[in-house]
Amino acid sequence: MLGRPPTVRAARAARAARAASVEPAPKTARSKSGLRLEWPGRTWEPHRESAASIDGALPTLDVDEIVGSGEGGRLVLGDALGVTNALLAEGLAGKVNAVYVDPPFASKTSYAYEARLDGPADGRVLRTHAYDDRWLGDGVGTYLDMLAPRLEALTRLLAPGATIWVHVDYRASYLVRLVLDEVFGRDAFVNEIVWRRAPNLGRQAASFQFGRTLDTIVVYGQGRPAIVPPTRLEPIDPGSVRWDDAGRAFIASPRGDYTDESIERLDREGRVHRTASGKVYIKYFLVAGPDGAWCRERRIDTLWTDVKPLRHASPGERTGFPTQKPLSLLERIIACASPPGGLVVDLFGGSGTTGEAAHALGRRFIVGDGSPLALAASRARLLRAGIEPTVATCRPVDGPPGPSPEVVVGEDADGLRVELVAPREPLAWAIDVAHVAGGPFRTAWHSERMPGTRAVAAERVARLPAGPGPIAVRVWSDDGGVSTLVPGRL
Ligand SMILES: C[S@@+](CC[C@H](N)C(=O)[O-])C[C@H]1O[C@@H](n2cnc3c(N)ncnc32)[C@H](O)[C@@H]1O
Repeated sequence: MLGRPPTVRAARAARAARAASVEPAPKTARSKSGLRLEWPGRTWEPHRESAASIDGALPTLDVDEIVGSGEGGRLVLGDALGVTNALLAEGLAGKVNAVYVDPPFASKTSYAYEARLDGPADGRVLRTHAYDDRWLGDGVGTYLDMLAPRLEALTRLLAPGATIWVHVDYRASYLVRLVLDEVFGRDAFVNEIVWRRAPNLGRQAASFQFGRTLDTIVVYGQGRPAIVPPTRLEPIDPGSVRWDDAGRAFIASPRGDYTDESIERLDREGRVHRTASGKVYIKYFLVAGPDGAWCRERRIDTLWTDVKPLRHASPGERTGFPTQKPLSLLERIIACASPPGGLVVDLFGGSGTTGEAAHALGRRFIVGDGSPLALAASRARLLRAGIEPTVATCRPVDGPPGPSPEVVVGEDADGLRVELVAPREPLAWAIDVAHVAGGPFRTAWHSERMPGTRAVAAERVARLPAGPGPIAVRVWSDDGGVSTLVPGRL
């Protein structure tokens, strides 16, 4: 559990913390914006050399598992601050092309993961506590104590021209902007993107206020960030399509506030249309859409209503992890925030959406989370997508006890036959055929439950070539518990 649950003692803190306030920065402060967000008990100071780790020891990332080649990206279990400091200690300062984080939003909610064992239609659901977004008192102070140092540490990873994308909602977006103003200065603000994450229906629509159906993604940049927004096709009324002498389809729009010089330039480019009376219009050339209809190509602005909510994604994409974001959202962000082959980091990674999207777009990734459940869910998801990550832990981490696996191992001329007798419905299991005690688990064979309209259970029997050493079997439960067994061979 990462968010501290409310306590009685919290009431006093809550009264004090009732509102964070913004004040001019005192002379000693290092705020780059000249403003300082005050909250009771604030200890965070931007631009102070941060302690090496949260518990005083130098943080390291201990490799626990190498899946196949291990070259499909890095998955890390650990608090975002410790993991960031470990990455900085590895020499990644200034090397990351984009940081995306979707941290808790101070939503006062405890979130449950729902593993639908037979698919959404058929009923059996395993519910497990995933993570807590409840904070002491009314929460703003303890929430900021958690978030501010982690955001600042993450910004140290950014390469020149790189951006950090912080996904929150109305509860935290204004706080995140003030924190990032202190870290970077107001000039480093790039965008505040508004994504419609849900339709305005039901309780939201009938709540005597405008429906709270939007998330906010705050973007700040290091140096001179260059984001190239994608375009979308906007269908054009066939009656307004015209053709120029070269046979190109266009629509004509009034010149608006184009200066005479701009009109001269556009004229040279063949983009000015003059009516019989000499009135000037600007030509916008059209492209044929997928159904052959003429469309105008428009660059996407900061209002994203065309990225569908997760509920519209295929059942196979929906992992059951609460607050999971759609792959299409992360693909849009990663495509315009990082170059092919670039490095993308998300240390509040949840179900691993960022890792899957980054891999699909040919980017490298480091995805982490402080919750063993999230790590197990994202590991299973990446492996289902054919991605072979290296999995590491940044200690200390408390996890639930693992399952008690039972296996039957046999060997014949065709190789090994390993049957998982218990647990009967694991989230995932894997086999190492050359196990080295104390070393990382080298996954040679693996199977995971597949979510979908009809979920498919993990396979129960593995057939694989025998390896040079003893075998080991590792099993993951839906609550994030992990156990490793080194069985004897029959
Ligand atoms: C909103 S969810 C992320 C969802 C994710 N974007 C997805 O698509 O699945 C927030 C995640 O932050 C993690 N988290 C909260 N506090 C953390 C911390 N201090 N360090 C690392 N992870 C943390 C939670 O465990 C949770 O998985």
